[in-house]
Amino acid sequence: MMNDSKAAFGGPVAPGAAVAPGAAASSAVPAIRTASGAAIPGIGLGTFGSDAVNADQVAEAVRYAIGIGYRHIDCASVYGNEAEIGASLAAAMSGKAGYPAVERSKLWITSKLWNDKHAVADVAPSFEKSLRDLRLDYLDLYLVHWPFPNFHPPKCDVSSRSPDARPYIHEEFMATWRELEKLVDRGLVRHIGVSNMTIPKLKLVLRDARIKPDVNEMELHPHFQQQALFDFVVSKGLVPIGYSPLGSPGRPERDRTSGDTVDMEDPVILDIAAKRGVHPAAVCLKWAIARGQIPIPFSVNPRNIAANLDAISKDPLTSAELAAISKIDRDCRLIKGQVFLWESAKGWEDLWDLDGSITK
Ligand SMILES: NC(=O)c1ccc[n+]([C@@H]2O[C@H](COP(=O)([O-])OP(=O)(O)OC[C@H]3O[C@@H](n4cnc5c(N)ncnc54)[C@H](OP(=O)(O)O)[C@@H]3O)[C@@H](O)[C@H]2O)c1
Repeated sequence: MMNDSKAAFGGPVAPGAAVAPGAAASSAVPAIRTASGAAIPGIGLGTFGSDAVNADQVAEAVRYAIGIGYRHIDCASVYGNEAEIGASLAAAMSGKAGYPAVERSKLWITSKLWNDKHAVADVAPSFEKSLRDLRLDYLDLYLVHWPFPNFHPPKCDVSSRSPDARPYIHEEFMATWRELEKLVDRGLVRHIGVSNMTIPKLKLVLRDARIKPDVNEMELHPHFQQQALFDFVVSKGLVPIGYSPLGSPGRPERDRTSGDTVDMEDPVILDIAAKRGVHPAAVCLKWAIARGQIPIPFSVNPRNIAANLDAISKDPLTSAELAAISKIDRDCRLIKGQVFLWESAKGWEDLWDLDGSITK
């Protein structure tokens, strides 16, 4: 059973940890509507444990988070923990998680197709494995995790180049996408979307998709606001889901470079946090909500899981605070994707079409 003092003072969620009385109610969580009319709960729990947190710890965090009011869980096959998370979801929905049962229809569960499963024959089996692991009979959202097909071993060095890695080839991406559309036709997933897309790639997908993507999941935090892409996504009726909303302080060493900046140490964020008496993380999340994106912060710490939900549920930032944060964009991409580069690529910038055209 839970060690209450450990949970209260910030260790990982202990197995069976009780849900704190007075935790934020899910009714306070805003929702953002997709063009097709679905309401996506306005904060999700990230589940990528990097190299430091194991699958059971993430699964406990999911169980705990649902107990205090989270309704949106951001999963992916490559995170290697969907089976463990599936056990938490089953417990939450059956009333065996230490709190009253939560109906399936109240949850928003996302998963993603990994880069080595883009081949037409691989899409449905990979999706079905996620569905089985998560112990669900449908997903709310299924994303193509990255627009590039490749294989690289887990935890490989960022300078490695996979001979299988390919640039974005639109016809191949659309063949993958049509497999996702078939999953919608089969009633196995309600919404499909993309992640890590750029404007030129999205333009082609929007032109050619039979079922349009409902979301683009993209890196978004105060030091990486991606204003042009954000505006494009919103103008086309897609919902922006913002990953690494706190600046990913726990990301693996391989994803760190010397020029990276730290959102939660920015003087503007610190100043707003100090004046409000909140953690800088709360300021990042309040900014995300006010801007209209859905943050999906990761945490296995019960105090932080609860604080993040609390932050987005009340005391929004003022327009002056939002204006101040709009000026601290440092164009600092943290998740650069180096390991996905194909052999002839020059550098990680090639993944992101910086000159406005698709890099081949
Ligand atoms: N689509 C994609 O390609 C993609 C890429 C990257 C990430 N993602 C998704 O986005 C999620 C979030 O991104 P992320 O994990 O990179 O970064 P993040 O959410 O910005 O940061 C997570 C880190 O912040 C800490 N933290 C959480 N709440 C805190 C709080 N209130 N105060 C202080 N520290 C706090 C966590 O530590 P504790 O555990 O100690 O709280 C953890 O180390 C991932 O888990 C994954 O689901 C998607």
